[in-house]
Amino acid sequence: MGHKSAIIVGVCSPEESVEQISNDLEELALLLETLKVKVRGKVTQKRQRLTARYLIGSGKLDEIRELAEGQQVDMIVFDRSLTALQVRNIEKRTCKDIFDRTGIILEIFSRHARSNQAKTQVEIAQLEYLLPRLTGAWTHFQRQAGGGVRSRGMGEKQIEIDRRRAREKIAKLQTRLRQIRTEKQVQRKARSGEFKVALVGYTNSGKTTLMQNLTRSLEMAKDELFATLDTNIKVLDPKTHPKVLVSDTVGFIRNLPHSLIESFKSTLDEVCYADLLLHVVDASHARYKDHMITTQQVLNEVGAGDVPMIVIFNKLDLIDHGSLQKVLKAAYPDSMQLSARSSHDMKALRRFIFDYFRKKLLTVDLWVSKSHFDKISIIYQSCLILSEEYEGDEAIFKVQATAQIIEKIKQFAEMRSSNGSFEYR
Ligand code: GTP
Repeated sequence: MGHKSAIIVGVCSPEESVEQISNDLEELALLLETLKVKVRGKVTQKRQRLTARYLIGSGKLDEIRELAEGQQVDMIVFDRSLTALQVRNIEKRTCKDIFDRTGIILEIFSRHARSNQAKTQVEIAQLEYLLPRLTGAWTHFQRQAGGGVRSRGMGEKQIEIDRRRAREKIAKLQTRLRQIRTEKQVQRKARSGEFKVALVGYTNSGKTTLMQNLTRSLEMAKDELFATLDTNIKVLDPKTHPKVLVSDTVGFIRNLPHSLIESFKSTLDEVCYADLLLHVVDASHARYKDHMITTQQVLNEVGAGDVPMIVIFNKLDLIDHGSLQKVLKAAYPDSMQLSARSSHDMKALRRFIFDYFRKKLLTVDLWVSKSHFDKISIIYQSCLILSEEYEGDEAIFKVQATAQIIEKIKQFAEMRSSNGSFEYR
């Protein structure tokens, strides 16, 4: 969809206010901006009733067509769900590509999906969305969904074959999705001793930028252990023990169509298992408060409402007035304000995260025979070593680690809590 242009259309039913519709249209324009589609015109219509044929009146549609021709746009986007029939009819009458809100959101998801699970999920959602619309006109989606390019107006028989293929593909992808889920459970178990941070937030708030800049130095660190991890999980600093893993999640969007909420819930599993959520908010956005509310609602819905969360107001570099900063600080005293583009801020955030988790570590003294290299190696790999001494045949470590790690290590090392009040083997 790169560098295309569009007319966007909002339809207002009697119970909706014009203001609400124009807000929604503004939001749609921003979503399109994310896809690099330029909005060249906005049209709203108040309707008593919506028609099955065109959704709106044919007179209004002709007006839109003229505007679309005058502005030479490639597509017309409706801020509503359209049926397959409506898409076909409108497409015929306007000779433009027609999209609805769900189609646009799917396109955004498909570009932004990074984990295998999210990618597979997006592909399924796209195919399901595409199925009733398989008429030959939706070639861009077919290409995306792996269907190849076709011209308009293909025969009904071909459409039937394509539908069957799409259904078969969906079934295959669902099997793959189940496998991924199992693999993830296994990985999660293996990582139970590590701290997990998940980035959440409204689409375009800067999660990916933050993730990249937060873990930038670590691209070079080819840690064997993590080579198998999903690409959207990174280690904050390979030198720390226990490791802090950061994962990115799909962006949240207001009024997410219900079918999509259901299908994307599973990609948010990571969020429920996180030890800490960083809620990234684009503070330079006029509607940042709405975005925060949406994000919180989705979190509650997926069962992550109780996971500890820090609000990160991002894009501080775009805010040129100090008053907003004061307002944010007063309203959200535990929040942080920063720019994901500032390496200084990223350093501070990294330090904050480490400090947050360090408080959760236990400090203990360990006694291990000097000759047990394998055991010593495990201690090195899983603990933060505060000191190391030798007494006769024994190595004595003062370490910090999570309760789980300490549980594991106490099976082979003699251990005392650091204040020496108890001791067990
Ligand atoms: P989704 O994948 O849709 O959820 O988006 P995201 O939250 O991952 O946002 P992303 O990191 O892709 O950033 C969105 C846009 O904001 C990009 O153009 C970034 O370059 C920009 N951006 C991110 N952080 C900052 C920042 O601190 N300052 C400025 N000026 N721009 C930023």
